[in-house]
Amino acid sequence: MESVLITGANRGLGLELQKVFFSGSFNTFPVVRTEEAADQLRMQFPLRCYPIVADLTSDKSIETIRMNLDKNAHSLDVVINNAGISGSEYLIETVRTEEVNNLFNIHCLGPIRTVQACIPNLRKSINPRIINVSSRLGSLTRMASGEFIDRRFSYSYRMAKAAQNMFTICLGQELMKDNITVCAIHPGQLLTRGRSTDADTDPAIAAENLYKWIKVIDINNTGLFVQPLVQNMPW
Ligand SMILES: NC(=O)c1ccc[n+]([C@@H]2O[C@H](COP(=O)([O-])OP(=O)(O)OC[C@H]3O[C@@H](n4cnc5c(N)ncnc54)[C@H](OP(=O)(O)O)[C@@H]3O)[C@@H](O)[C@H]2O)c1
Repeated sequence: MESVLITGANRGLGLELQKVFFSGSFNTFPVVRTEEAADQLRMQFPLRCYPIVADLTSDKSIETIRMNLDKNAHSLDVVINNAGISGSEYLIETVRTEEVNNLFNIHCLGPIRTVQACIPNLRKSINPRIINVSSRLGSLTRMASGEFIDRRFSYSYRMAKAAQNMFTICLGQELMKDNITVCAIHPGQLLTRGRSTDADTDPAIAAENLYKWIKVIDINNTGLFVQPLVQNMPW
């Protein structure tokens, strides 16, 4: 039986991913921030669901995730770095360094912590895959084209997702020799709490597409940035 760890799995895209991987008979390791969220998931998914309570902005999360995997998982096949927050300030004179720090912490350091915690279990899988949930707003190519000019997207979010994309590229190149696939995805403009003004995609459909795509990828696909089953994304 395959297993998946999904961060930010109590709502939005993460919860839809939890549902679709659970339906696909995966053992699931949803990472959430509170005991209440963990209890709710245990009730909703009484089997094959091992919630992990961790705040991914803290280094303590590395040990917490590692301990939980040691208890309940042998190998880990898929890790989805999905947890994230949005930013607000889009003018240089109002950008707060605290906001930028917070977004780098969750979007860049969060995936580093999660991968550090999961790598021993990933190495035991036949087809280990790490998927970083990025965004079209992390694409330097699309941003530089002027496509999003005047859209008032925050400095913090665009910078953090672009840096996360660089992490994806570096990690993919390092782990290629270990047969660990590393990709970035844009899930679409989702109708979730963190939605953009042009949101048009049901997160359940985005999760279904991501699931189908993850099922068929392997090391030959490492280094891709895609909107699964929709389009390739330029870095
Ligand atoms: N929405 C879009 O249109 C869109 C577009 C492109 C990319 N994305 C990306 O897709 C991902 C999911 O987006 P979404 O719209 O589903 O977001 P969402 O509904 O706002 O959910 C975010 C999830 O991340 C969790 N989280 C936040 N900070 C955390 C922390 N420090 N530690 C652990 N978990 C934390 C939240 O937990 P709590 O419930 O405890 O806060 C929640 O489960 C994000 O990475 C986002 O940047 C979204």
